[in-house]
Amino acid sequence: MNLILLGPPGAGKGTQADILSQRLGLAKLSTGDMLRETVKQGGKLSQKLQDIMSSGALVPDDIIVAMIRERIKAPDCTNGYILDGFPRTIAQAEALDAMLVAEGAALNHVIQLKVEDAALVSRIAGRYSCAACGAGYHDSYKVPLKEGECDSCGGKEFIRRKDDTAETVGKRLESYYAQTLPLLPYYEKTGILSTVDGMADIKIVEKQIESIIAR
Ligand code: AP5
Repeated sequence: MNLILLGPPGAGKGTQADILSQRLGLAKLSTGDMLRETVKQGGKLSQKLQDIMSSGALVPDDIIVAMIRERIKAPDCTNGYILDGFPRTIAQAEALDAMLVAEGAALNHVIQLKVEDAALVSRIAGRYSCAACGAGYHDSYKVPLKEGECDSCGGKEFIRRKDDTAETVGKRLESYYAQTLPLLPYYEKTGILSTVDGMADIKIVEKQIESIIAR
């Protein structure tokens, strides 16, 4: 099964992709995570990518498409994958369609997480993750079971993303509305687009997605 989680920054794409990936045994392909990993490794692209991400703009399509084209060839994608943060432009969606045709594969679901702008800002401002394993948390909505200790790996160090500032969030939202929102009519035409209420509690969103996939 191949599916896309679509939504603005902070909508809960990564949170739900983690849950689904564990439950269904599908690979989670997060272009944001891949880009942050490339930045961490350094090299000639690193500074350019960091500058773009810190500004809240989108990374050029050719870089992103090349990254995904390579990633979906990995063995963990054989059973299918969850795309988190990709595609984000019509050009990326068209490139994905071409990749799927070349692989003889198809998209099963495109799931939009609908969340109000004010909630997005507070979600992003309160987000942090485990420095060791990357498990995601939130100051109010998702705290570790044992204070100061990661539920997944027991790690005690936590980090916040550099682009999670109030100013950058505004720019990321602008990029979303200008470049990513046009994907909704694009996928509506295919008949595989569903929308869930992303304002609901994490567990309720999970149930809404489960029922779409079970259809
Ligand atoms: P990326 O890393 O993809 O960031 P994003 O799309 O801005 O999305 P986020 O990761 O911020 O949010 P999310 O929806 O995953 O929410 P999360 O689950 O963490 O991209 C970063 C940058 O990389 C972009 O700005 C761009 O520059 C570049 N980039 C990436 N992909 C690209 C592409 N395809 N093309 C071009 N450029 C690209 O949840 C947020 C918080 O809320 C968490 O703390 C969580 O615990 C909490 N939460 C989640 N769900 C709920 C809920 N239902 N109720 C309450 N709290 C919740």
